[in-house]
Amino acid sequence: MKTNEIRNKFLKFFERKSHVIWPSDSLVPQNDPTLLFTGAGMNQFKDMFLGKGNLEFKKATTCQKCLRTGDIDNVGRTASHHTFFEMLGNFSFGDYFKKETIEWAWEFLVQELKIPEDRLSVSVYNDDQESYEIWEKYVGVPKAKIYRYGEKDNFWPANAPLLGPNGPCGPCSEIFFDQGERIGCGRKECEPACDCDRFVEIWNLVFTQYDRTEGGKLTPLPHKNVDTGMGLERMARVIQGVQTNFDIDIFSPIIKSLEEITQVKYNGQIEHAILMRRIADHVKACVFCISDGVLPGNEGRGYVERRLLRRAIRDGTQLGIKECFFIQIGADCKQCNAGILSRYQAASGKHCTDCEE
Ligand code: SER
Repeated sequence: MKTNEIRNKFLKFFERKSHVIWPSDSLVPQNDPTLLFTGAGMNQFKDMFLGKGNLEFKKATTCQKCLRTGDIDNVGRTASHHTFFEMLGNFSFGDYFKKETIEWAWEFLVQELKIPEDRLSVSVYNDDQESYEIWEKYVGVPKAKIYRYGEKDNFWPANAPLLGPNGPCGPCSEIFFDQGERIGCGRKECEPACDCDRFVEIWNLVFTQYDRTEGGKLTPLPHKNVDTGMGLERMARVIQGVQTNFDIDIFSPIIKSLEEITQVKYNGQIEHAILMRRIADHVKACVFCISDGVLPGNEGRGYVERRLLRRAIRDGTQLGIKECFFIQIGADCKQCNAGILSRYQAASGKHCTDCEE
């Protein structure tokens, strides 16, 4: 199943559950001066969670463009990390809560995406007995596959009660895909919280019910909310059965053009693969930043982008590229040879912007 199909299936599934399909916010948050970049689907709905928003619906679904640089050093080295990625989500502003969220998530994974149930495990926040029981009694997940973790793993933002940030937060329940014993640490007792690659976290269901204020005080919000997040590239990797996010259909044209530009094989030395993955990630991040109006600069957002650009150029140099190469990446629109942004717009179901093919 192509990445585009997963994106569409998700949005349509929640539309059938009476959600409004709402556009992604810009990477430059339109409604939150505390953030440099949009890093989660819920950012644009913060006021709705706080009971101060003016949207006229209580259920929404989005595919949000996200930029996170906290894990920048892992990009390319691990199967999953990105700076820029797309996050699918469904949201409730005082409408449904845990039962529907959990049941719909399972329905989507098992019935729409046809993931075998026995490959899935879940986790709940330590004392969230309600979610535990929904997973066990209503969905039928065996006890052995329901894990209880603390604030680091099962609270969003992670560790928020102790460390912040202030704002809407709550316990969460995560769903993991088991890649099997042959992947990762190989320990019999390996479980989703293990740092190895065996369990891929595919969906985070956040029950946003508190407002954190100074000193770690958690005040119940005016109503209970839901904020879920599923990394699209990661889900595509699971569904397409490939080793890393960079092997999925929307990344392989970028990797392929890097092979052509550099004449270096992606499947050759691992160090080369890491450089190529990092270039693919960073160039894509820069393209989306620029399309949202952020230009490379010396401070703020522009500085972040400049850093991404410089890292990608450095990696290109290490692969032996001497000339300017970004413009050539992914330039394979059959009709007009358009560059990467046009291709991604075409991939999102729109026409290639250059030739309207
Ligand atoms: N806000 C949560 C996350 O980013 C769920 O969408 O993981």
